[in-house]
Amino acid sequence: MNKAYDLLGKEPGIRALVDRFYDLMDTRADAVIIRAMHPDDLSDSKDKLFWFLVGRFGGPPMYEERVGHPRLRARHMPFAVDSAAAAAWMACMNQALDEQVADDAVRQAISGFFGQIAEFMKNR
Ligand code: HEM
Repeated sequence: MNKAYDLLGKEPGIRALVDRFYDLMDTRADAVIIRAMHPDDLSDSKDKLFWFLVGRFGGPPMYEERVGHPRLRARHMPFAVDSAAAAAWMACMNQALDEQVADDAVRQAISGFFGQIAEFMKNR
């Protein structure tokens, strides 16, 4: 089984997915609640999610090299991540995946991976 890093098109593919995800968060009406938690300029948010996903999907450990241990749940604690926030996050990510991943099985597996982390991030 190929690792997600390869299936998504390595760094260029993961960069495109993350850029589209945040552009959708910036424009979808149902994402206003989570967009408001983020800085006005999404460049750093894009970089950090890109670095994290490259490593988590089996590529080089870019996030750890630049930021350190992800401690994702702790890093999300200042933000009110409830069911509505997690659903809005997943709506943006699922649209980005629908647009960029042609293979149904791959898309569903990667969506499932994001869904588990989004569930784990809930803190309210
Ligand atoms: C469940 C709904 C979620 C909400 C509302 C949410 C919201 C946020 C917010 C407001 C930030 C801070 C913005 C920033 O540092 O630029 C952030 C950072 C981050 N999020 Fe999420 N997030 C969610 C789920 C996820 C998921 C599922 C992942 C991973 C697959 C993820 C990965 C990250 C990463 C890597 C960072 C950067 C952490 C750092 O270095 O500071 N988030 N998130």
